[in-house]
Parts: sequence; structure tokens; C-alpha cells
Amino acid sequence: MIRIAIIADIHGNYPALEAVVAEIERQQPDYVVLNGDMINGTPMSSDVLDYVRSQDWIVIRGNHEFYYLDFDTERARPGFNDQERWGQLHWLMDQISVEQGHFMAMLPDERIFYLPNTQPISIAHGVSGQNTVGFSHRLTDDEIAERLEYVPQRTVVSAHTHIQIDRHAEVDGRMWHIINPGSVGLPLNRNIQAQFAIIESVDETVTKGGWRVEHFGVDYDRRPLLDAYKTSGMLAIGGVISTLFMWEVCTAEPEIIHFFRWSSQNNLDTNESLVQSFRAYVDATNRDQYVNEHNPLLNGSRY
Ligand SMILES: [Fe+2]
Ligand SMILES: [Fe+2]
Repeated sequence: MIRIAIIADIHGNYPALEAVVAEIERQQPDYVVLNGDMINGTPMSSDVLDYVRSQDWIVIRGNHEFYYLDFDTERARPGFNDQERWGQLHWLMDQISVEQGHFMAMLPDERIFYLPNTQPISIAHGVSGQNTVGFSHRLTDDEIAERLEYVPQRTVVSAHTHIQIDRHAEVDGRMWHIINPGSVGLPLNRNIQAQFAIIESVDETVTKGGWRVEHFGVDYDRRPLLDAYKTSGMLAIGGVISTLFMWEVCTAEPEIIHFFRWSSQNNLDTNESLVQSFRAYVDATNRDQYVNEHNPLLNGSRY
């Protein structure tokens, strides 16, 4: 029997990572795999990178590592220079050392495990070859099959959507097992706990595909992280985008998607003025009040 802890989407949330590591130490898995998006979104990316580099983990790169790696190159997204939209990335560039950057530069984008007496597992932040293709509970089996058209492995560990998934899909006699450990640092399933998974090789009669999944959620104190948004200077430079990421720490809901969806439904051009659109959003929805009710710095809760 082989047990592998899968963690992903830490997004610079060092206190959440510490809590997950404590639980992993209790669980004593054989291996730990980190499936991408270590950095960006919350203010402690450098601490996360230092910790990850000190560990004997299998580390895979996610799309947020590419924000750092693509900055100031010909691969950069159009608009990276736009301070209002990408100020957070400008702030992040100053936080990360050359050596930390080299570490991310040389990570693999996917791994395939061929462990004895188990089904092969494909592990990528999205799916093999595409780091922003993810899985949600809403997808049909056909849509899952479409995303995995070029993936020969039947057991697929993904991440990126920040949602815990343990799902079998079957189309025309082909079967897949989709596993997402959820997010350590920015969960989006309305559960503010730091989340991860442990997968365990079992007989195929126990679980189709031969990997049993246990999902975990760990309480941690979010207050030092929320404080750091201000004390690190991230919020001042990152503006609306950093505010929305901070809101996600408070609510564990997709605040960034909520905002951009509302803006487009109300015909507001966020490229024209992000700040004005955000003001209109807050005025119309009072979302800030909802978030404040979920903010442990304001509502007196420990977690
Ligand atoms: Fe992510
Ligand atoms: Fe991602």
C-alpha cells in the first residue's frame, strides 16, 4: 500500500501551509506531491518558496508560477505593465529572490507515476499540457472525457479550480478517476479550512482505478495572513485585485469571478477603469459588508 499526500494552490498562504504540514506529519504518508500554484494571491509567497525548497517533495509547476516566469519576457501577457490590473504581480516580483526564481524555472509541468501494483497516475496542475484546464463538479462525464482526450492515464490528479474532487467518469467503456486535493491557501468551496488530500493505493474492487482518496480540511488562524496584506504593502500596490484575493481568504468563495461577472453583466469595462468598476460593484451589491462579516480580524472569530 502506498500513500501519497497531494497539496496544491498554496498561493503564498504560509500559515495555511504550516497547518497542512502539521496534519501531514500526523498522517505520515510515503510521499508528498505539490501540484502547482505555490505563489501569488496572498502575501507570503517568499516564505512558502523557502519552505518548499527545504523539503524533499515532488513539486510541479502551476500557472501562477508562470506569472512570475513570464514577466518582462516576450511571453508576458499584454497588459502586465498596467499597474491598476497587475500591480500585485509588480509587488510580487520584488518579493522573490533570484534563487527562488531559478527553482520555479526548473520545475516540471507534469509527472506520471508508475508505482508497482498500481494504476499509472497523471499529475498536472490542470491536465497534461494545459495548466489552466480544470475540473468542477458541474462537468458532465462527456466534458471530462473531452478534457482528457490526449491523456492516456486513467487516474488523473489535477488542481487549479481550488475545489476538492473525487469523481469517476465513464464514457463508451472508458473510465477515469479525477482527483483534486482542493486548495491549501485559497479554497473556493465555501470552506475556509486549509485543504489537501491523501491518496492510497487499494485493490480495484475497493475503488475503481485502484486509488482511494481522503480529503482533509485543517483549521488555521487566518489573522496573521490578513494582517500581512496591509503590513507587506501588497494591498496598497495590488489595489482591486489584491483586495479580491483577500476577500477570497475571508469567504472561500470566487470573489474575483463574482466581480468580473457582475461587471460584464452590467456592461462595465474593467479594462477602462478597474477601480471605478469595483466601486460600482461594491455600491450595488454591498459585497464588502458580506466579506467583513466573514473577516476574522473584524468578526472576533479565531479562525
Ligand atoms: Fe490556483
Ligand atoms: Fe492555477
